[in-house]
Amino acid sequence: MKKEASEIKIDFSGKGSSLGDFYGIFFEDINHSADGGLYAQMVQNGSFEFCTTDNASYTPLTAWEAVGEATLKAKNKGSLFPKNPCYVEVYAITQGKNGIRNTGYNGMYVKKGEKYSLSFFAKGAMDITVALENSRGETLASGDVSLNEEWDSYSLEFKAKAEALDASLVFYLNSHGRIGLDAVMLFPHDTYKNGVWRKDLACALEELKPKFMRFPGGCLVHDGALNPDERDACYCWKNTIGAPQARPSKRNNWGYNQSLGLGYYEYFLLCEHFKCQPLPVLPAGWNPHRQDACPMEQMQPWIDDALDLIEFANGGEDTYWGKVRCSLGHPKPFKLKYLAIGNEEVGEEFPPRYSVIAKAIKEKYPKIKLIHSAGPFPDGSEYRRGYEAARKDGADLIDEHYYSSTNWFLANIHRYDKFPAKKPKVFIGEYATKANEYYNAVVEAAYLTGMENAAHAVSLTCYAPLLCHNDYVNWRPDLIWFDNSRVCKTPNYYVQKLFSNHLGDYLLPLEKKNVKTHHSLAMPLTGDAEIVSDGCEGWIWDVSVVNLQNGDVTQLNNFDVAPYSKTCLSNINLPSYEIHLSFKRSPDGRQDKGIWLVFGKEDDKNSFRWEIGGWQNQDSAVTSSDQGENALWDQHIFSIESEHEYKLCLRVEGRKISTFVDGNLMNTCEALLPQIDDVYVSASKIKKTDEAIIKAVNVREEAHDVRISLGGTYSGFVYSLSGYDKHACNTLEKELISPKEEAVSFKDSLNLTLEPLSVYVIRVKKQA
Ligand code: AHR
Repeated sequence: MKKEASEIKIDFSGKGSSLGDFYGIFFEDINHSADGGLYAQMVQNGSFEFCTTDNASYTPLTAWEAVGEATLKAKNKGSLFPKNPCYVEVYAITQGKNGIRNTGYNGMYVKKGEKYSLSFFAKGAMDITVALENSRGETLASGDVSLNEEWDSYSLEFKAKAEALDASLVFYLNSHGRIGLDAVMLFPHDTYKNGVWRKDLACALEELKPKFMRFPGGCLVHDGALNPDERDACYCWKNTIGAPQARPSKRNNWGYNQSLGLGYYEYFLLCEHFKCQPLPVLPAGWNPHRQDACPMEQMQPWIDDALDLIEFANGGEDTYWGKVRCSLGHPKPFKLKYLAIGNEEVGEEFPPRYSVIAKAIKEKYPKIKLIHSAGPFPDGSEYRRGYEAARKDGADLIDEHYYSSTNWFLANIHRYDKFPAKKPKVFIGEYATKANEYYNAVVEAAYLTGMENAAHAVSLTCYAPLLCHNDYVNWRPDLIWFDNSRVCKTPNYYVQKLFSNHLGDYLLPLEKKNVKTHHSLAMPLTGDAEIVSDGCEGWIWDVSVVNLQNGDVTQLNNFDVAPYSKTCLSNINLPSYEIHLSFKRSPDGRQDKGIWLVFGKEDDKNSFRWEIGGWQNQDSAVTSSDQGENALWDQHIFSIESEHEYKLCLRVEGRKISTFVDGNLMNTCEALLPQIDDVYVSASKIKKTDEAIIKAVNVREEAHDVRISLGGTYSGFVYSLSGYDKHACNTLEKELISPKEEAVSFKDSLNLTLEPLSVYVIRVKKQA
């Protein structure tokens, strides 16, 4: 029997919540997104500053090699750039093809007929030849330069006569002797808006039509030393402006070096080009990764950094930092409106530090919208601490982050429905399901309809991470993948693009009929229970399982916990039960790790776990792995101490999970099941053009009919994603998945068959 069509009745003259700046992007230099990515500079380690603080394998000569009989010596005294003190001395004992080569980021991509600009500093009274070569040693372009005895700056223009994916830049010494070389920069002429941004990547971002850009991180912002002059300092915006050669090279917490060539000025400019709001994230004198807090009485520099940044962005020429901006070539203010203090701050140290910074900002700049952090988890005591503090402080927005399984997203589509329509409004500053497969994109689309429908509470959203260089992966999934010459727009990208490009000013009220909800039976909480060591050693005893329905108690064996071991306790097939055990961690083994009590385990990809001393021995967390995709259900700050005898108890009652340590409640949560609707839908209107935008998503593997009634005559387009395998992906080689576009016109209502696993954006204009 054919299923009844769902009826979606939209009130075209009604007016719901405003959608404002709903869709944005989040740029962080992770996965070589900036250096080696969006920052178009092709030379890696151009200033010879790489060191072991950035990455254990780095030296000042990383990405450089000697050519011919040259010898290379890294020097750290006498450079023109005191904050970047290193340079290289190249010595050629003979005359011949001797010199130094930079191999870029696993090669450089050079296009036939394209022009490239080279700049560098050198000394040494010698004639040199600089060339772009392919890996066979063939010259693609070259030029000659006569060097002065003392440091001076030089530039050259190249035009490539052939294409190469494996090009390198070589400096040949034309006689024997030595030269000093520093601050080498090579850019293609063909960049985005003639700036420092790689064109294809910047265009891919621009196409998203973001309303805001959150930058520059992420953990990049707050994970580092509090002293901005240290090599591994947390992100200090003042280090990132001015001549790129003079910006102090820093450790990037994602395990590499950041040249800071893409700095705050370039980020602001990019936002201006994208016509989007800049949304900077500042550290707040508290590094939760290292538990390092600036004493409260020494917070003034952090307060000043925030005030100065606003002045840099918005101040006139008559202000100190406004004048700096003008001197960089931008007399017009950048109109900064949003500012986030903190990224994913956990711990009691954050709220008072946020408070003093926020107070100073609000006193001087009351119109700036300030964003508090809700921490890295979608629930739990740190999440609640974030909310309480944000409310107390009158924050305008609060930044939530979550990376979860598709089932978590499907279970949470109505997460914000009951949130109040008042400050702090929700900013979903980082989120993603766990893959770049087609199904993930469809689920994200369904979730976004839920977020749009909750626009009374949710103001801003952005997917994370944004970019990933194929050869330097820190994190997956990512919205856009790239290598030196190609870009891969994922299905997730196309969902963001469809949803962001087509968005009304405000929601249109809608009524749904015949929309069934299908309850999933996924992931029961029964199955194997086991103890896993995350690196620590210890002992377990007094182990028992209690059947909560009849009180039966089963005693289990004692055992030792070896590092990285897994010990099965029992197979538990009860609707409600408790697991009790005593645990003592040994002072041997990893002290930054605890144990996991795994439960409800079906197989290696499907289980729940209670992490006791999880992450860096900082959490008690309840998580799940659902078809290999993780989700976090509850988190509480907790650290295991060695030699203490802990009494641990896990209680499962249906879907409710509670954990206790020494009789104290640690976690409590309900592991929600996905409830899958026949169709997920949202509707909005662009007032000026009288257009309705209706988004409809089918996450099920069967087609479903819908009738969308608007009243009146409409014509426009339907943009859709459909017809792909659940696991299909786009790759650098092949774009399999991209939206289709079809003209549509109808009177009063539109009948549409939503294909299995499909996303539709219907954009229609009312006809007179
Ligand atoms: O987006 C990747 C990382 O995830 C961000 O740096 C951090 O904020 C989060 O943990």
